[in-house]
Amino acid sequence: MDTIYLDNAATSFPKPPAVAEAMLRYTRDVGASVNRGVYASAQGAEITTLALREGLGRLLGHSDPSHCILTSGNTMGLNMLLRGWLRPGDHCLVSSMEHNAVMRPLQDLAARGVRFDRIPCDGCGRLDPEDVRRMIRPETRLVLLAHGSNVGGGVQDAAAVGRICREYGVPFALDAAQTAGHWEIDFAGWGLSALSVPGHKGLMGPSGIGALLLSSDLAGKLTPIITGGTGSASDLEVQPAYMPDRFESGTPNLPGIYGFQAAVEYIEAIGIPVLRQHETALAARLLDRLRDIPGVRLAGPRETANRVGVISVDFQRVDNAEAASRLELEYGILTRCGLHCAPAAHRTLGTFPQGTVRFSPGWFTTPEEMDAAASAIAEIACG
Ligand code: ALA
Repeated sequence: MDTIYLDNAATSFPKPPAVAEAMLRYTRDVGASVNRGVYASAQGAEITTLALREGLGRLLGHSDPSHCILTSGNTMGLNMLLRGWLRPGDHCLVSSMEHNAVMRPLQDLAARGVRFDRIPCDGCGRLDPEDVRRMIRPETRLVLLAHGSNVGGGVQDAAAVGRICREYGVPFALDAAQTAGHWEIDFAGWGLSALSVPGHKGLMGPSGIGALLLSSDLAGKLTPIITGGTGSASDLEVQPAYMPDRFESGTPNLPGIYGFQAAVEYIEAIGIPVLRQHETALAARLLDRLRDIPGVRLAGPRETANRVGVISVDFQRVDNAEAASRLELEYGILTRCGLHCAPAAHRTLGTFPQGTVRFSPGWFTTPEEMDAAASAIAEIACG
């Protein structure tokens, strides 16, 4: 039985062929580190690393490649931001839709005197930007939101929240785990101070790499949570203050950098509007069919405006884990079931504790695969 991969919200698959080719090329033919050698292959690795930072900047509306920090993934980027920025007594606003990549570090910090509030979201997982204004306090030092939900797919109005944060002088940050690479993101236009992205989801790169983009103002004030060798300022035992070395210690994930750079180049060649349109069309196809299927409840927006292609279904007559297992065993359809590391989002959408079965198409998903998923859902939903 052929498989249908509908778990792109967890990690995109397949990858563009150029990703594996670039990783192989680095490992087989280059093999040099960056910032450490002056020989030609080391300089080649540096050029590729710079090309990655520049490509991410173009995709995400950020113009300074030195402030595009390469991380080991989105969880690291979010930890770097939260732990490097918030201090006891500070207040942080998040939405009621956050992933544990935000909530777990934040709960750790709360145990040490950081306070936070959750901006309530509606039954589709979206907040009212005016609630941000209402909930900002004098001691609020950060507003951090999941841009797109990994559970319901709803996308927050980042431009509107950015305007309010600017008005109050509060740094605004986005966790773009579910939007980067297939949704327009405008770091400068939205007045972002920080943006964390994984390499392996919509950006179609390998896992184990991501990026944290910072404004120059925040970069100068953020404390690095990891320090060490940078290959620069080697006469000093203190961390260099300049970017990106301030936040990049240790030998980087170079096979990952090569793969990620190839993925970013691939995305730039297609263009975000085309990627988004493809995803929206696939989502619309399944959402339309779900209207007529009894025995399933959609968790998240039904319309395709302001949503990514993450479609979460709560089977009413069948256990969700059993439904996911049947999807794989009987139909070859690969999904993710459960709480998706986001219990708060499920509480907001009314699917806690049972969770959902999540269908998430990607760039390589076909309309026929979405139809096959809809037919399988209809058959399983009967119980
Ligand atoms: N956060 C990822 C997901 O939702 C891993 O599956």
